Amino acid sequence: MNEDLNIRDILEWYLTAGVDETFGEVPFGLDTGTKTETTPVKAPAAAAAAVRPATTELAQATVNACKSARDLCAEVTSLDELRKMVENFDGCALKMTANKTVFGGGNPEAKIMFVGEAPGADEDRIGQPFVGRSGHLLDKMLQAVGLDRTKVYITNVLPWRPPGNRTPTDGEIAVCLPFLKRQIDLINPEVIIVLGGSAANALLENMEPISRLRGKWLEYKKSDGGIVNVLASFHPAYLLRNSAQKAKAWSDFMRLCQKIMQ
Ligand code: URA
Repeated sequence: MNEDLNIRDILEWYLTAGVDETFGEVPFGLDTGTKTETTPVKAPAAAAAAVRPATTELAQATVNACKSARDLCAEVTSLDELRKMVENFDGCALKMTANKTVFGGGNPEAKIMFVGEAPGADEDRIGQPFVGRSGHLLDKMLQAVGLDRTKVYITNVLPWRPPGNRTPTDGEIAVCLPFLKRQIDLINPEVIIVLGGSAANALLENMEPISRLRGKWLEYKKSDGGIVNVLASFHPAYLLRNSAQKAKAWSDFMRLCQKIMQ
């Protein structure tokens, strides 16, 4: 390894190369151990042997946790049962670093459901969704269209805070998605507003940027085949950093108003 490179340079290189998750101490690529004309990479046999099984084990653990979450969700028939089940679920490592399970809040009878990405530091401390700075902005946005938390239900894709508010991994989202889907089944909202690209991509199972998804009615298919209207909008945390985009969020909330007054 080049001695002139410091850790920051190396991490930057990994990030620009698309490496955004660590599985083991020794790096390997898809071309590890294979020889192609352009990339004659050959990892030491010991390193490949040490890392590959661990990676497979992690992937297998994620698959098992997804199945376990889906199976457990299929058994619960009330929101309280689902909450207890999520609180007792040990298949997502995020739970180990979180202080509280942040399940959902607001009115479980509501016809409007908001879905964010994951709890932040304040939510993790208090155990309720959207109670920090983003939550205060969300409250103001709700108020502006005559809504408040007694009229809506609010939840997140993930019930546990990712350490340091990092972006959740695809594996973490996949494991926790059954909890969100079951919550949607049990709340049975008429409309869902997804806040931010990460929540929108998770729920709608696509990879479209939020700039393309927001501002139009989309559809989510429940497990019974019923369709729920979905509106994507910017995440309040993004609006706090980019106030010029608040006008677009306002027009999204106007669209929501029109829908619920129909
Ligand atoms: N951001 C989210 O996506 N959810 C919260 O609950 C708080 C901040």
